[in-house]
Amino acid sequence: MTNDMSEIANLKAGLIADIEAADTLEALEALRVGAMGKSGVITGLLKTLGPMSPEERMEKGPPIQDLRESVTAALAEKKGALEQAALDAKLASEKVDMTLPADHGAQGSVHPVSQVMDELAEIFADLGFSVATGPEIEDDWHNFTALNIPETHPARAMHDTFYFPDEEGQKKMLLRTHTSPVQIRTMMTQEPPIRIIAPGRVYRSDSDATHTPMFHQIEGLVIDKGITLGHLKWTLETFLKAFFEREDIILRLRPSYFPFTEPSVEVDVGYTLTNGQRVIGGDGDAPGGGWLEVLGSGMVNRRVIEACGLDPDEWQGFAFGTGVDRLAMLKYGMNDLRAFFDGDLRWLKHYGFSALDVPTLSGGVGA
Ligand code: DAH
Repeated sequence: MTNDMSEIANLKAGLIADIEAADTLEALEALRVGAMGKSGVITGLLKTLGPMSPEERMEKGPPIQDLRESVTAALAEKKGALEQAALDAKLASEKVDMTLPADHGAQGSVHPVSQVMDELAEIFADLGFSVATGPEIEDDWHNFTALNIPETHPARAMHDTFYFPDEEGQKKMLLRTHTSPVQIRTMMTQEPPIRIIAPGRVYRSDSDATHTPMFHQIEGLVIDKGITLGHLKWTLETFLKAFFEREDIILRLRPSYFPFTEPSVEVDVGYTLTNGQRVIGGDGDAPGGGWLEVLGSGMVNRRVIEACGLDPDEWQGFAFGTGVDRLAMLKYGMNDLRAFFDGDLRWLKHYGFSALDVPTLSGGVGA
């Protein structure tokens, strides 16, 4: 019995030492099977208890049970320790270095035309204007006739129009040559007072460094009671100061002619020489300075108001129109319009805007 007892004590000491020395989960599992598996040492010892007399079992049972419990506890403890070590090692090897620069991948950019259109929408929204749209495939009446440019009017020759082939019994269709037909569509569908801008694509058969067959315009229209040229001048001045982000924008209004306005006004802004560069702003009559035409405008012609079914003695207003691409060129310094539509990635990267750049006045996500 003493012998048995010391054998069991030795066995226990040996197994526990082995368990403590195990350095992998696999080695530990092998030890568990060797001790407690179907034909393990401890399993074998437990089996010897069966055939014993109750007295003998009372005597030999407890050390064997103690052996089983101690080894089970040692296995569980070691298993926990090995698993924790494996997890620690994994965490250490997979550590994320937050100081590494982020990989942005390929990024697109916002085209200057889109950027400028957003800027214009922001500026005019602050002045109480909403954005109106109209079709690019337009009919002759909206594009010309209602705007007081009848069939034989010489002003039609100023617009090199893309016409669709005539169709029997159909209206004459064309690609709109300006955004002005949106004035007509708005007056015919909205009750005054009206304050809208209409940015969009327009088409003319024309191509050189400053003309492309497709380009962008923005139209403005205000219809209300008692509107004067003074309102027009204030609106354009406020708009151009906000757009060019300068307080010293000086306007020069020149008498002009558009069939849809009377009187008609062409608007120039002064530029000055700053470090040998032409910069928009300041008095264009200063030495080295000059004037750049930026807008066509005027008081809406009574005939146009009448064509839209409104009474011109009750409602007056002003309108203006200009090239969005041209405004972009003046503000951001490009000199060839054709590059706007070539889709050259190097140009887009250079002149494009980040999606997070926000229009001048909005104070959006970037602010
Ligand atoms: N529609 C004119 C053009 O394409 C621009 C324009 C001039 C629009 C005067 C207007 C305006 O609304 O009043 O050249």
